[in-house]
Amino acid sequence: MILYFSGTGNSEYAAKRIGEACRDETVSLFEKIRSRDFSPMHSDSPWVVAIPTYAWRIPRIVQEWLHRTSLSGNRNIYFVMTCGGNIGNAGNYLKKLCAAKGLNYMGCAEIVMPENYIAMFTAPAKEEALAIIGQAEQVIDNAALLIKKGEPFIQPAVTVKDKLNSGFVNNIFYPAFVHAKKFYATDACISCGKCAKVCPLSNIHLDRGKPVWGKNCTHCMACICRCPAEAIEYGRHSRGLVRYVCPKVTVQG
Ligand SMILES: Cc1cc2nc3c(=O)[nH]c(=O)nc-3n(C[C@H](O)[C@H](O)[C@H](O)COP(=O)(O)O)c2cc1C
Ligand code: SF4
Ligand code: SF4
Repeated sequence: MILYFSGTGNSEYAAKRIGEACRDETVSLFEKIRSRDFSPMHSDSPWVVAIPTYAWRIPRIVQEWLHRTSLSGNRNIYFVMTCGGNIGNAGNYLKKLCAAKGLNYMGCAEIVMPENYIAMFTAPAKEEALAIIGQAEQVIDNAALLIKKGEPFIQPAVTVKDKLNSGFVNNIFYPAFVHAKKFYATDACISCGKCAKVCPLSNIHLDRGKPVWGKNCTHCMACICRCPAEAIEYGRHSRGLVRYVCPKVTVQG
C-alpha cells in the first residue's frame, strides 16, 4: 500500500506514479491526519510512504501519524521523500522509527522535485517545474522497480552537513520558523473557503468570509499555494512569487 501526504502535489504525484507502476493501492493521509485518525491499517504488499522533506526530515505530522498507527501485514517499508534539494540524514531517523515499530526499513529514496517553500524561498515557474519533474520521473520509476523486486533502495553517503541539518537545524527550525503568524489574506480574497479546506491541521477558519489562521501550522504551503485568487501572503517575502502546485496532479481539496 502506498501512503502519502502532500501539501502541494509533488509527493502525491510520486506516490501515484509508484502506485501505478506497482499496481498497488494509493491512500492519502490527509483526512487521517486532519481527523487524527490513528486506526490500524493492513497491507499484504510492502508499505511505501511518500512525503515531502521538511527541514531534512519527514514532516512531524506524518512522523506522529506513523508512530501512533499500527501497520499490520507486510513488514517491509520504503520511504520516498520529495525535496527541493536534498533529504539530508532523514533516513537515519526513519530507520529508528521502523525499528520501534517492528518494520523492516528498506531505505529512503530522495526525489528532487520543484521547491514549494515560498514562505522562505522561491518556487519555479511552470516550464522549469516540468523540466525538474521530468528528471524526477526517472528516479521515481527506478524506486518503483526496486519496490516491485522487493529489493532495498541504495543509500547515498551521509555527510557531516547532512547530520547537522537533520539534527540540530531541524530541531531549531520548528520552534523558530514554523508558525502561521505571518499569513494574511489580501483584498483579492473571494471568500471561497479553499484555504480552510486544504489545511491538514484545520488551522484556518473563515471569519466574515476571510481566513483567520490559528496556532497549529506545519508550513505545508497548501493554503498559500492553492488559493485560487493568490490572495494569501506570508509577510513580505511571498509578494510577487510564483505559487507552486505540482502541474501533474490535482491535489486533494
Ligand atoms: C516547511 C518546508 C520545509 C522544507 N524543507 C526542505 C528541506 O529541508 N530540503 C529540501 O530539499 N526541500 C525542502 N522543502 C521543499 C519540499 O520538500 C519540496 O518542494 C517537496 O517536494 C514538496 O512536496 P509536496 O508538494 O508533496 O508538499 C521544504 C518545504 C517546506 C514547505
Ligand atoms: S482560498 Fe484564497 S480566495 Fe479562497 S477564502 Fe482562502 S484566501 Fe480567500
Ligand atoms: S495554515 Fe497553511 S501552511 Fe499552515 S498547515 Fe495549514 S495549510 Fe499548511
